[in-house]
Amino acid sequence: MADFHHVLAIETSCDDTSVAVVRRDGFVLTCLSADQNAAHTPFGGVVPEIASRNHTMTILPLVERVLADSNLNWSQIDGVAVTSRPGLIGSLLVGVITAKTLAQAKGKPLIGVNHLEGHILAPFLKDDRHQPPAAFGYPFVSLAVSGGHTTLYWVEALHQYKVLGTTRDDAAGEAFDKFGQMLGLGFPGGVKVDQLAQKGDSQKYHFPRSYLEEGSLEFSFSGMKSSAARLLQSLTEEELDEQRPHLCAGFQESVVDVLMQKLDTAVSLIAQNCPVKSVSITGGVSANSRLRKRAEDWARSRGVVLAVPPLRYCTDNAAMIGYAGILRLLAGEEDSLALAPSPTPLVSDFLPGVGWTL
Ligand code: KG4
Ligand code: ZN
Repeated sequence: MADFHHVLAIETSCDDTSVAVVRRDGFVLTCLSADQNAAHTPFGGVVPEIASRNHTMTILPLVERVLADSNLNWSQIDGVAVTSRPGLIGSLLVGVITAKTLAQAKGKPLIGVNHLEGHILAPFLKDDRHQPPAAFGYPFVSLAVSGGHTTLYWVEALHQYKVLGTTRDDAAGEAFDKFGQMLGLGFPGGVKVDQLAQKGDSQKYHFPRSYLEEGSLEFSFSGMKSSAARLLQSLTEEELDEQRPHLCAGFQESVVDVLMQKLDTAVSLIAQNCPVKSVSITGGVSANSRLRKRAEDWARSRGVVLAVPPLRYCTDNAAMIGYAGILRLLAGEEDSLALAPSPTPLVSDFLPGVGWTL
């Protein structure tokens, strides 16, 4: 593996078609993504059938462009990595079939990657414009927070991941999106809630925070969402128009309060047995400006190194899949052309004793 340099990676687990070329040290040569928001907006959410059809049309031109932008040809690519689980099955299928075809046609090793491992490893990515904090490293607490997942992991070492807690109902991004939809902000609403909240007063409206049982590291956002629906129904059209920024600020503050409280509890619980020096926040919701600010202040006061990747590596992207794929290929793993996508993590991800519990 000494001459192993570059992986071409494909990510199509949901509605973003993404292709990247990543070097073995985590340096991203090129990562290009095509989102499909315009196609899904009229339906207020991702329509799986539309997502897979769009992936089919976008994927090969993206592969060509990424290779051209990286100034590489296939002889300089040493493997093909692809998200094979979990995700929308039709979307995954497009990526996996494309990756298998390219791997076979070009004679390259193929590796299927767990999307969640991609998010966990995203803080290590670097490029011309970004370097992770020098002191960031294993072991670390990872909060992966997106439209599909809200999970706290204890990352003991590479390929040693333990789930500390996950959501019992909605993911945080899903809560933002549903709230945005109730306010007529379109889909996905998270970023618009964030923008409007910057002009609002977070103290004007209070939404219930669900912390669950004492010390619990699980999440629940459904109560917050129902309470928001009740509140919005009680307002007239004019009030709603006028109050939007305050409503967004109040809702955002409640989601961020819960995320930060759970992150803090996780670090405190682990610190009873093992010092926690590094923490990361990844996934689409880590783009939230209030969460970033609160997390930075918290990390400073707690004395931990915080890594929040730039937005391009927070949302779904192929670069994180490429890096996870490289590390697996370097560890001697490889998939056969029988690689099949799965909507859930595979049973083999739960190998006893390995602590691989994504
Ligand atoms: O990681 P990602 O691109 O895809 C999933 O795996 O879900 O995350 C997308 C999610 C959406 O729910 C979106 O509304 C949310 O991340 N999001 C935000 C912000 N930017 C994206 N939520 C709150 N504030 C933001 N600025
Ligand atoms: Zn994701």
